[in-house]
Amino acid sequence: MARMYDFAPNAAQTKPELYAELAAATDAVTADEPDAVANMANVAALIWQFVPDLNWAGFYRMVDGGLVLGPFIGKPACIRIALGQGVCGAAAARGETQLVADVHAFPGHIACDAASASELVVPILRDGAVVAVIDLDSPIPARFDPADAAGIETLAQAIAQRI
Ligand code: SME
Repeated sequence: MARMYDFAPNAAQTKPELYAELAAATDAVTADEPDAVANMANVAALIWQFVPDLNWAGFYRMVDGGLVLGPFIGKPACIRIALGQGVCGAAAARGETQLVADVHAFPGHIACDAASASELVVPILRDGAVVAVIDLDSPIPARFDPADAAGIETLAQAIAQRI
């Protein structure tokens, strides 16, 4: 059945509250939908709606041993990223979140949008293997902190079986 989603993030809430609401909205939107592209598209849109001060939010998927661009909001981006390359490739290769306060200081950072100043990349693991990463970029230096990382990590686990 077609339906409209109308989530209203509250700017006054704490980060844990914000990410709890984002997780609830994500669960509501993806629960009954098996299509990975549809779910990643909606999750990118929800992240964009809930998380302030972003200039890029979306997915890279692991395809044949490398990362390939997935659904996102933002400027057109680099399509393929080798494992170990850039912030996304580092997150995928290590299976670990990358919290980068200053992208210009990160060795090998790939500039898709000159406005990006800081970045958060969280791997999505399924059965112990990285299947995708969630990439958030901000024009504000040091925009992301461990509360953002924890919120996106929880989201990543929640959608691992739905993408
Ligand atoms: N900056 C990323 C590339 C992807 S764009 O930010 C969307 C990186 O270094 O992996």
